[in-house]
Amino acid sequence: MKVVVIQGPNLNMLGVREQHIYGPMKLEQIHQNLENFANQNGFEVEFFQSNLEGELVDRIQECLGDADGIIINAGAYTHTSIAIRDAIAAVNLPTIEVHLSNIHRREEFRQKSMIAAVCAGQISGFGPFSYHLAMVAINQILAEINAMKMAQQAQQN
Ligand code: DQA
Repeated sequence: MKVVVIQGPNLNMLGVREQHIYGPMKLEQIHQNLENFANQNGFEVEFFQSNLEGELVDRIQECLGDADGIIINAGAYTHTSIAIRDAIAAVNLPTIEVHLSNIHRREEFRQKSMIAAVCAGQISGFGPFSYHLAMVAINQILAEINAMKMAQQAQQN
């Protein structure tokens, strides 16, 4: 099982940017914690960060046939990008939308997510722990899919 964690614009600036909103933890530390979780739970995790919308679309497309699930913090593109939404819909993999801040209690323009409707769910507002919760969620979803496939196979035999 492989999960790809995709990080959008300005998330490479975590630990420096607006610490009163996003906290002091750097992206590398968040990824290290996720890697530890994946190791403990027996799945593979890969990380990708880009400030460019097209590169994010490309990386989502590359997940097709290669990954089992996606965790994505699309940063500001969350609120604007139909291209990222379409890419998520196109690959049709279980996808969790993540935000460090609670986008629903921030400026009005952040309260709308273009990608929420094509994701399994949204986790928003728990700081770096949002990513951990997303890992727990994707782990559960993939386990359920696996169990369903096994049950179908057993029925066929
Ligand atoms: C964010 C929220 C977005 O509105 C913002 O543009 C970000 C980070 C979050 O994780 O809280 O870059 O996605």
